[in-house]
Amino acid sequence: MPPSIASILGLHPLPSSSNVLFLGEGDFTFSASLLKSLTSGTIAGGTSAGGVSPLPPTLTFTVTSYDTLSTVLKKYPLSSSSLSTLSEYNIKPLHSIDALNLPPTPPYDKIIWMFPHTGHQRVHLNRHLLFNFFKNLTSLSPKGLVYISLSDCRPYSDWRLESSATFHGYETVKKVYWDSKSLEGYKHVTTLGGEAYRGVNGVREGKGVGCWVYGFRFVGGEKEEEKVETIGGGYEVRVGDSDDDDVVEGEESIKGFDEEVEEVEKEGKKIGEKEKKRSRSAKREERKKKKRSRNERRKIARKKAKT
Ligand SMILES: C[S@@+](CC[C@H](N)C(=O)[O-])C[C@H]1O[C@@H](n2cnc3c(N)ncnc32)[C@H](O)[C@@H]1O
Repeated sequence: MPPSIASILGLHPLPSSSNVLFLGEGDFTFSASLLKSLTSGTIAGGTSAGGVSPLPPTLTFTVTSYDTLSTVLKKYPLSSSSLSTLSEYNIKPLHSIDALNLPPTPPYDKIIWMFPHTGHQRVHLNRHLLFNFFKNLTSLSPKGLVYISLSDCRPYSDWRLESSATFHGYETVKKVYWDSKSLEGYKHVTTLGGEAYRGVNGVREGKGVGCWVYGFRFVGGEKEEEKVETIGGGYEVRVGDSDDDDVVEGEESIKGFDEEVEEVEKEGKKIGEKEKKRSRSAKREERKKKKRSRNERRKIARKKAKT
């Protein structure tokens, strides 16, 4: 069975204590549905006055939106019901929280951002969003993890999520395929409003329900080699079926980072060229060898014919 989002995020089994931050919630169906799934059945015992199983007191969920409360309510029809679910758990969401400008305290053990998106289907703007998120992040606890989900196709795969993280000293410790349909009650919505894969307001955010959930941890300068845990895949990647997702002309570059990526790409090309050359010369050698042995065989045959 594919892993649940709760287990991907390290929330099942429920940790005894953890300070969890949710960024960029749209209509709050993600945090509300996740909470319900965490506290249903045998995951947590007891029932609060509101009829829901409470979280352990040492587990804190800070749930935030980039939009103001009134914008959230205007944009997303399901938001009022998610907000009332959250209030049953005594969670008061914070609004107008910018992921690029988080205060350093309190430190969080988990920072979760499902499907970050500027609302503009422009590769460079979304690259900047991710790049500056890692650049400005100071509120992760020393052993904390950042979780980010992105759809499993272009243009999202062009947003340089992993290289932005690496550039700022984060290493990918997890990459797990997840089907967002599997979390009951969750509807991945767009920044502008509406469900993600319906093309609302002319901007499509997310082509389908499949995505990769990445886990990053800060390793600073002392980057260790560690295997990335990759689970899943086996899906169809649809290439380039968006009208306006190419890098636009005159796009602003990210100083230092873009150069570094270019270097890596150049290096990759050089290696590719070398490999091509190597395989060409290996083929030449192979042909020469064959020719030599053919000539050898002919010589022997001629000798035999003479005798
Ligand atoms: C594609 S929507 C996903 C919404 C929600 N997380 C979900 O999974 O349905 C992208 C979200 O990123 C938020 N966002 C964009 N820029 C942001 C920023 N600088 N800080 C925090 N959130 C931001 C938008 O407000 C929007 O809610």
